[in-house]
Amino acid sequence: KDNKPYNLIIFGVKGNLSSKKLIPSLYQLEKSNYLHKKTQIIGVGRANWNNKDYIQITFKTLKSFIKTDLDKKYWNIFKQRLSFCNLDVYEIKQFEKLKNILKYTMNTNIYYFSTPPNTFGNICMGLGKIKLNYKPNRIIVEKPIGTSLNSSKIINTQLGKYFYEQQIFRIDHYLGKETILNLLALRFANTLFYKNWDNTVIDHIKINVSETIGIEDRWSYFDQIGQTRDMVQNHLLQILSIVAMSPPKDLNFHSIRKEKIKVLKSLRTMNIHNVNQFTIRGQYSEGIINGQLVPSYINELGANKNSNTETFVKILVYIDNSRWQGVPFYLKTGKRLSNKISEITIYFKTMPIQLFNIDNQNKKLNKLIIRLQPNESITMTCFNKIPNLNPEYQLQNIELNFSYANSFRNSKIYDAYDRLLLESMRNNQSLFVCREEIEASWKWIDSIINAWSICGIKPQLYPSGTTGPKLSRKYENK
Ligand code: BG6
Repeated sequence: KDNKPYNLIIFGVKGNLSSKKLIPSLYQLEKSNYLHKKTQIIGVGRANWNNKDYIQITFKTLKSFIKTDLDKKYWNIFKQRLSFCNLDVYEIKQFEKLKNILKYTMNTNIYYFSTPPNTFGNICMGLGKIKLNYKPNRIIVEKPIGTSLNSSKIINTQLGKYFYEQQIFRIDHYLGKETILNLLALRFANTLFYKNWDNTVIDHIKINVSETIGIEDRWSYFDQIGQTRDMVQNHLLQILSIVAMSPPKDLNFHSIRKEKIKVLKSLRTMNIHNVNQFTIRGQYSEGIINGQLVPSYINELGANKNSNTETFVKILVYIDNSRWQGVPFYLKTGKRLSNKISEITIYFKTMPIQLFNIDNQNKKLNKLIIRLQPNESITMTCFNKIPNLNPEYQLQNIELNFSYANSFRNSKIYDAYDRLLLESMRNNQSLFVCREEIEASWKWIDSIINAWSICGIKPQLYPSGTTGPKLSRKYENK
């Protein structure tokens, strides 16, 4: 379906992301007939593999990570595309090996940096050395880009030395999720929501991204980063900025980014005076998930027993602009929680007049619940008269439901990486994040992390399989 031939070169192909997401997505694109017949997929890493090993390993990876059975017909086509390049990114001379593989194709090269951010500079340098950084070649860089505003600036500058901004695709896979894309349609194609989206009608908003998985085999990565940098700096702030942005002038990505950046720049920063009140850090201890006993964070494989890294965070955010003045946004995300669920809940204010006898508790506010995953859906709660012959009105909170499974029975919901890999092949940057967005979000994240560090705020333990630290429940009913 896509007529341009390109190669996909994955640095860090042995890692968790590549096995869990990239390879399965490429296979899915194969099955959906989106890969050009000349496309090659080149895995790069330090492993001592030859092509045959790599194909065998990819076969096993696919078998364990795709949700359906491996289709022999497509696997036979897919495996022809695979080759492996043994390369240590710290050895610039070794990039010649990659050049030797790529010189036989006339394809555009898309380099996927699925490696820690401290390797990005070297990879760019290596690609520059073998002169394979020119347009229309491009790079996809995984988050996190840096660990602070400063380090992200350094990385962005390193990338910029070898690639033009139009060649840099900074990925945040949440932007490829069907339900996130739908937020624009929901907000800007429906008068009902368009008109009722500010502090005159909205009481507060919660964004919850809870996971049941722990850190899997990523201790060395995760312990340096923590949940705030791993999830809030990117995914939650992207959701927040789309939920809170003002209407863009049009759907051009420059117009959308412009509005999102305004939101990010209006986030009220944290300091030593408010950080304790506005944030809660947590770390999981032993507990039960899906009937299985799971270890505490500090007893994970390779763990440092004294780690103070957070695996849970809850943040109360205010957006200091006229649309959102006074509306609290509660961001919550954590690992090893009771459920895997990503959801945005908009709570509307109570009625200015009370004709009916409704108590004003928050649970009785009108709510719009946007379920991002799993069981993607949108639910609106509203009051309805209970049918009866009583002389007085009796009301009940009922739900108006829309679910993707019911309304779009014949449509497949593709994984975010399927879409984003395809968009990078189409050379479409609109679902990727620009430098200014990254830097604005780091600036705000830095304010939290610095305040934690100055105040010595340590994470509170929560048993795996619960909803987080006890104290975090103080916002739960808001
Ligand atoms: C990744 C984080 O970006 O997102 C992981 O690095 C996290 O720690 C994952 O588990 C969650 O993605 P999803 O799509 O499963 O919500």
